[in-house]
Amino acid sequence: MTLDSTRRVVALVPAAGRGVRLGASAPKAFVPVGGSPMLVHAVDGLIASGVVDRIVIMAPIEMIDAARELLAARAHAASSIPVDVVAGGAERTDSVRAGLAAAADATHILVHDAARALTPPSLIARVVDALSTGHRAVVPGLPVADTIKAVDAAGDVTGTPDRSELRAIQTPQGFDAALLREAYALGLPATDDAGLVEAIGASVHVVPGDAMAFKITGPLDLRLANTLVADMTVGSTPAVTG
Ligand code: C5P
Repeated sequence: MTLDSTRRVVALVPAAGRGVRLGASAPKAFVPVGGSPMLVHAVDGLIASGVVDRIVIMAPIEMIDAARELLAARAHAASSIPVDVVAGGAERTDSVRAGLAAAADATHILVHDAARALTPPSLIARVVDALSTGHRAVVPGLPVADTIKAVDAAGDVTGTPDRSELRAIQTPQGFDAALLREAYALGLPATDDAGLVEAIGASVHVVPGDAMAFKITGPLDLRLANTLVADMTVGSTPAVTG
């Protein structure tokens, strides 16, 4: 199937993580980058892509009101794209499941981590473009710079996969909505949504990712993100390449 005028792309934004690895006092999506919470950057990027019809944020239950206030006050508040906030869950998959329940109107779903706050709108559009050519599951990926080794519980190496065949996978991950619902119906844990789609035997297509879509996980990532936003604010193009 190709996307047509009946398509409705709903972006689910998991933002209910506690951010333990970041060491911040607020839940991670609410930590500021360049003065604005990561969540606001992520939503603004989705709106700027021009390919999203609706956004559903999954926030920690005690932060729902704060999230609504932040989103109402942001630069793109006048956009005609509806943005809803629902409660996330204990695990990321629980949060996505809560988003799916709030997105019954979707023909296509993007799942996009708030922690990938600086994701360029062009990457979001690239994922939706690939859905429009008929792929039912699409993920952005970058070649890996490091050699990756499989290691057992004793710390011994059990294998060294060929690096040229590996990709570091980012978000947004895009899906035919029915396919993602079918995958989530299995009830398995997963670190990414495409992994669940693979588990039901469906194929997943990779499009080129973007270094700016890095996940802000630890303090070093946060420093990098703040520096990049400061660079963008003074008008220079960040010197980041894939
Ligand atoms: O923990 P991790 O960095 O993998 O989280 C990725 C994204 O998933 C973050 O945006 C985080 O807020 C979100 N998340 C969530 N619900 C959880 C755990 C993580 O929405 N229970």
